[in-house]
Amino acid sequence: MILLTGGTGFISSHTAVALAEAGLPCVLLDNLANSPESTLQGLARITGQAPLFVQGDVRDAALLDSLFARYPIQAVLHGASLKAVGEGLAQPALYHDNNVSGTVTLIRAMERAGVRRLVFSSSSTVYGNPTLQCLPESAPLVPLNPEARSKVMVEQILHDVAASHPDWRVLSLRCFNPVGAHPSGALGEAPRGQTLNLLTVMAQATAGQRPPLSIFGNDYPTPDGTGVRDYIHVMDLARGHLLALQQLLQAAAPPDARHRVLNLGRGQGISVLQLLQAFEQHTGYRVPHQWAPRREGDAACWVADVSAARQHLGWQAELGLAEMCRDAWRWQGRA
Ligand SMILES: NC(=O)c1ccc[n+]([C@@H]2O[C@H](COP(=O)([O-])OP(=O)(O)OC[C@H]3O[C@@H](n4cnc5c(N)ncnc54)[C@H](O)[C@@H]3O)[C@@H](O)[C@H]2O)c1
Repeated sequence: MILLTGGTGFISSHTAVALAEAGLPCVLLDNLANSPESTLQGLARITGQAPLFVQGDVRDAALLDSLFARYPIQAVLHGASLKAVGEGLAQPALYHDNNVSGTVTLIRAMERAGVRRLVFSSSSTVYGNPTLQCLPESAPLVPLNPEARSKVMVEQILHDVAASHPDWRVLSLRCFNPVGAHPSGALGEAPRGQTLNLLTVMAQATAGQRPPLSIFGNDYPTPDGTGVRDYIHVMDLARGHLLALQQLLQAAAPPDARHRVLNLGRGQGISVLQLLQAFEQHTGYRVPHQWAPRREGDAACWVADVSAARQHLGWQAELGLAEMCRDAWRWQGRA
């Protein structure tokens, strides 16, 4: 059985679907700080079974001990994290307590239970606004805000922990820009506040639920002048997390690879304008938008070097722009 922290969140809930399809049972832990309980109904609709859910905080050591005592947990996917950059700047202590102390509490509970298999949902924010256009995992880490710094700190802590005991196997997955939703339309991103997910913003602007989309900058040195990023379908990310967990469960990894860090992206750049045009093409709706000046510090273009994930996990993204746009719009129609 797998423990999914942040289980009702965007990435973990879609991973729960992938685990169910692979026949891997899981228990979801979430304090519902940034996701609604209705996610559980969506999961039940897709999998045909009510998910096993515990509402609680990953910083609650006694609760974690009780979960490890009650369920035969073999590995953990750690996705419980606060991720809003602005909120992190305003409340750094909250972010470090939640993201860093939360991870330390989890690791200590895992050690007490003798469970030493962990997949951590890390983030491409660890790279800052890089000058390199195609980023290998060895690229410099330049976290620019408390949220990103918390990810770097957690990766470093995991490195130390993995080195401390021969049984530890840890994979940190640096996720690039997840978009889209489950193709059923029953599950998608449902944050408590405003989202920064460009495709969700596009869908909400198109549905008249927010002002027109602002496109920041049209004079970048990219083919159409707008910023280029590595967007990836959330179901591709979910499959990546599943493969990572399966690998850790079977792992006889060499001691030098007790903690591996892998980028999960498509390895292909998509510009804001390309995403907008694809959305219009695949949904048949016009996206209301306006042009705005460049945002300070935004890099023109950066994408993941995904060769390590291909080599070590046998994973690569399969879904393209059409699926990203259609699934995001289908989910928007239900939201
Ligand atoms: N969505 C993105 O754009 C993106 C991109 C790259 C990396 N990531 C990373 O992947 C991870 C998951 O992201 P997501 O998009 O699914 O975010 P999300 O906010 O949808 O999910 C995180 C979940 O964790 C829960 N949570 C937060 N603190 C908790 C705590 N102390 N105890 C229990 N539950 C807690 C929240 O309620 C939420 O349901 C995060 O670490 C995030 O930084 C996300």
